[in-house]
Amino acid sequence: MGSGIAQVAATAGCTVKIYDMNLDALAKSRLGIEKTMAMLLEKGKIDSAEKDRIFGSISYVSSIGDLSDADLVIEAIVENLDVKRRLFSELEAIVSEETILASNTSSLSIASIAASCKNSERLIGIHFFNPAPLMQLVEVIPAIQTSDAILQQTVKIISDWKKVVAVAKDTPGFIVNRVARPFYGEALRIYEEGKADFVTIDRAMKNYGGFKMGPFELMDFIGNDVNYVVTETVFTAFYFDPRYKPSFTQKRLLEAGFLGKKSGRGFYNYSEVLSLPKEDATLGKYIADRILAMLINEAADALFLNIASAKDIDNAMTKGVNYPKGLLAWADEKGIDWCVAALDHLYNEYHEDRYRCSPLLRKMNAENKKFF
Ligand SMILES: NC(=O)c1ccc[n+]([C@@H]2O[C@H](COP(=O)([O-])OP(=O)(O)OC[C@H]3O[C@@H](n4cnc5c(N)ncnc54)[C@H](O)[C@@H]3O)[C@@H](O)[C@H]2O)c1
Repeated sequence: MGSGIAQVAATAGCTVKIYDMNLDALAKSRLGIEKTMAMLLEKGKIDSAEKDRIFGSISYVSSIGDLSDADLVIEAIVENLDVKRRLFSELEAIVSEETILASNTSSLSIASIAASCKNSERLIGIHFFNPAPLMQLVEVIPAIQTSDAILQQTVKIISDWKKVVAVAKDTPGFIVNRVARPFYGEALRIYEEGKADFVTIDRAMKNYGGFKMGPFELMDFIGNDVNYVVTETVFTAFYFDPRYKPSFTQKRLLEAGFLGKKSGRGFYNYSEVLSLPKEDATLGKYIADRILAMLINEAADALFLNIASAKDIDNAMTKGVNYPKGLLAWADEKGIDWCVAALDHLYNEYHEDRYRCSPLLRKMNAENKKFF
């Protein structure tokens, strides 16, 4: 992630220093960026002067002291709170008073990282998506300690880097990793109920939902180890709200070492030719509608709980995970009455809290309102 973020900043005209405590990682980063630049040149996306400029503005340093003149430091080290906290207290002693300190963490609270600094007002979350040079979205997350001036400066810097900024509250999963949970969780639930197999669910989400990848293909692509841990982290962080409950089906896969594409087998076996079951349009539409209703509910609840603005929630899902439409705009299109009825139908069937309709959707339905 660090390399990708460095490439984005250098492309936007910044002078960048990449620091890693592991020298092999620095060498790997240099090779990676060199290869990417060569590929961009070959494709005609940049000329050779631009390639030299970008590559020339990145340097590699092996001592943290070399970061003393930085205006902004974006940390992208191992996802461990104690290690990050140690790094930030070391950094704070080196950089100037004005330097913005940022973390690219996906799952730790920004407040807990900021608490390691004496001046915690200048610490903020800047969460890129992988691969950083290709994904347009960046979530900017002020901690309760972060000053408004630092938030404004950060939004400006990241916008100047030609990224789409979504400002999110410092809550588990921020926007994307929270709102996207039902894409995986509800798909797994439908499979566990025996209503459809993986292929049928994936095909339904592509054919009737318009998604580029189905949930099981995507879990295999992300890695079942990584995806499961994010789900478990979000579930724990939300005090075990049943809406985010992880699935045994996915847990067994990772226990078996079926991690997905990277291990040759996940939900799918990549050494076998896939046989497609006969298509059933009624079942396909049921699957797509059920998962979509759950996604919309999650997006509406994120708005209800002031996690982000409606515009930022929709941008987050289209620019961070390539959803075909923003979920709130999609709710308007389907009709708020449709969303409430779909969720109430699920709740009446299962009587599980996981299917509770967001109070915001219910209120909007009663008042005949739309999101946009
Ligand atoms: N991989 C993703 O898709 C992704 C997406 C968004 C955010 N993130 C976040 O970005 C961060 C990095 O993730 P990654 O996947 O690039 O990890 P990674 O393990 O590939 O890279 C981390 C690097 O940090 C170095 N490092 C570890 N401890 C260090 C220390 N104390 N000082 C200096 N360098 C140190 C390691 O040598 C390694 O090169 C994490 O916080 C992660 O949550 C990752």
